[in-house]
Order: sequence, then C-alpha cells, then structure tokens
Amino acid sequence: MKNIPLFTTENGAANLILGSVPGFGTAYVRVLSAQDGKALAAECAQFCRAAGAEGVYATGLPEQESWPLSTEIWRMTAQKARLPQTQATLEPVTAETLEEWVALYNRKFRAVPNAVWLSPSQAVLKAREAFFVRLAGQTVGIAKGAGNQIHAVAALAPGGGRAAVLALAKALEGPEIALEVASVNEKALELYRGLGFRKMETLSKWYKIG
Ligand SMILES: CC(C)(COP(=O)(O)OP(=O)(O)OC[C@H]1O[C@@H](n2cnc3c(N)ncnc32)[C@H](O)[C@@H]1OP(=O)(O)O)[C@@H](O)C(=O)NCCC(=O)NCCS
Repeated sequence: MKNIPLFTTENGAANLILGSVPGFGTAYVRVLSAQDGKALAAECAQFCRAAGAEGVYATGLPEQESWPLSTEIWRMTAQKARLPQTQATLEPVTAETLEEWVALYNRKFRAVPNAVWLSPSQAVLKAREAFFVRLAGQTVGIAKGAGNQIHAVAALAPGGGRAAVLALAKALEGPEIALEVASVNEKALELYRGLGFRKMETLSKWYKIG
C-alpha cells in the first residue's frame, strides 16, 4: 500500500505511512504542521482506518502528551571491536529462500511496535541485506542490515537473538554498530544492553490515536 507523503487538511499536514497496513494493520502518522492537532489527528486516523488500519500511531502532534504513549524509538550503538565473539554465521537469502525469510520476519515482527511489514516482493534480496543465522548446523535466527546499521534481528531458537546480532555486526562496517529499538521492547533491550549497546538518543515518540 502506497504512503501519502503529504496529506493536507485545513487543520494541518501530515505524512501517512501505510506500508504496514496490509500485513500488520498498523498505520503511522508523521505530523508536519498543525493548526488544530486534535482535529488533524482525527482526520488522519479516519483516513488510515478507511485504508484498513486497526491501530494508528502519530508523532509530532503539538499536544501529543495528551495521547497515550505507545513507544519511543531509541538509537543505540556499540563499538564493534568490543562485542563478544561468536561462532554463528550468516547465510544470505536467495531467490529460493526469500519467501520463507519474509514469512519468518513478518511472523516475528507482527507484535513489535513500529515494525515495518515486508511484502514478499520487497527488494530485501536485491540489496543483499537479509540473512539466515546459523549456529552448530541449525538456523537460530534471521537478520537484516547494511552499512553499519542493524535493521532487524529475530530469534528462531533460544539464544538466536544474540547469535543474530553478533554475526550480523561482524559482517557490518565498523567501528560503530547502530540500531533502532522501541523503548517498550523489553526482550530486545535486554539483549542489546547485555551485549554492550548503549542508548544514544531518542529519535521519536509515538502516541496511539483514538
Ligand atoms: C528480541 C529477541 C531477538 C531476543 O532474542 P533472544 O535473547 O535470543 O531470545 P531468548 O533466548 O530469550 O528466546 C528465544 C526466542 O527463540 C524463540 N524460539 C525458541 N524455539 C523456537 C523454535 N523452535 N522456532 C521458532 N522460534 C523459537 C522463542 O519464541 C523466543 O523468541 P520470542 O522472544 O520472540 O518469543 C527475540 O525476543 C525476538 O526475536 N523478538 C521478536 C523480534 C524483535 O523484537 N527483534 C528486535 C527488534 S529491534
């Protein structure tokens, strides 16, 4: 589903992010300007719901603290040289395994706040950014990243998250490895903190509309 880069009404303007509506039922609203924040939020939510969204989340509303906080998005970093060693390896996704990888990703990220739903046609393969994580002959996780950024990791077996972070970080560019995480994702925070990642900044705050 296409995003609406500029949704304007007499109450303001917003960027409507609808890409995750088909798979996760969630839409995101980045408010660009608002004369009447409450009225604009209601209009954006109405549009997103008509497009099929069940949950609508917004950032940048002037009176945003009056809505229930859904999550903050934090940027965390770690020095690659200081991460623990791992025996885990990455196996790039191929044309044959792309569908399986995307299905696993969507299953693991359905309940993760602000996660992006991937359609099977998504160009993860072209960019060669998506991997299965293998350890001791088993697939223990999935990972996605590029440059010095971890985009996504998920566990398919106990300890799979740790294996995924470390194997991916080893393959990414250093010296600093960065990622974004929802402040309410306790399991992910525990994993990242345990490996030495530290919060650098709050990138955005998201509030549930309606
Ligand atoms: C955050 C996360 C990566 C932590 O991984 P971890 O520390 O290795 O996880 P643990 O060792 O405590 O737990 C084992 C995981 O393997 C999963 N697992 C165990 N056996 C499994 C099997 N046979 N098939 C599939 N999954 C299995 C468990 O369900 C658990 O995942 P869950 O936390 O999603 O329920 C993991 O909780 C996860 O994949 N969460 C969903 C995706 C996510 O939030 N990613 C981070 C976004 S920034």
